[in-house]
Amino acid sequence: MSPMSSPIVALFLTFFLLLSAADAFNITKILGSFSDYSTFNDLLTQTGVASEINDKKSVTVLVVSNSQISGLSSQPKDTIKKMLSIHVVLDYYDKAKVDKVPSKPLTLTTLYQQSGKAQNQQGFLTMTRVGKQVSFGSAAPGSSHDSIFVKQVTTQPYDISVLEISNVINVAITSSPSYAPNASPPRKALAPGPNKSPLASPPKTTRSDIPAADAPSTTTDSDAPDNTSAASIASASAILFIFASACFMLTMI
Ligand SMILES: *[C@@H]1O[C@H](CO)[C@@H](O)[C@H](O)[C@H]1NC(C)=O
Repeated sequence: MSPMSSPIVALFLTFFLLLSAADAFNITKILGSFSDYSTFNDLLTQTGVASEINDKKSVTVLVVSNSQISGLSSQPKDTIKKMLSIHVVLDYYDKAKVDKVPSKPLTLTTLYQQSGKAQNQQGFLTMTRVGKQVSFGSAAPGSSHDSIFVKQVTTQPYDISVLEISNVINVAITSSPSYAPNASPPRKALAPGPNKSPLASPPKTTRSDIPAADAPSTTTDSDAPDNTSAASIASASAILFIFASACFMLTMI
């Protein structure tokens, strides 16, 4: 064995540890210890949002207790998925950070923004201090900001934070003043292609959240290709990275 081989082995181990660190938490397991959020947890699993959360490095999940979620759980799966994605902030906020929120509203990016389907600022939240309380609301114009921070449920510092808010975040859609949990079932009017960039959404104002009159009933689950292509790109680039590193190190022997 050449004297170089043990550092190389060590480097390889480091790469694999770094790769597996991406799966360092499991939101299903984390929420499993809190029976108050079992409905929220079930919905995360049913919609596949749970595995999207697990793929993130630094994330905050805004959970709602079972007694507050019944309006959402009766919605069609697409709507539930959208609403849950809006409750996932792509940054780490624990109670200490929430307590330091200035009076100026802070804009937060949500998982829904990454879906490429967000319109009218629906992919963003604002966190606002109102006296001693902090509220979370949709950045979509016309949304009411009545989801109040209740408490920190649990954290794994800088990876994942779970915060309880008082009720499901209200998200205004273009036609009606607000998201109404008991409205008639929305239907997706058109399914955007899997490669559509969030920044490249067309200017036309077709809404995906209202029942389209005589819309073709060929609505397919457009989220599956999203997930698989993202996952395969991630694993392909990981393999490429390891391979390139290996080649590089071999040239140094
Ligand atoms: C996450 O935890 C749940 C419940 O413990 C388990 O069923 C599931 O397989 C876990 N997922 C991963 C990706 O490990």
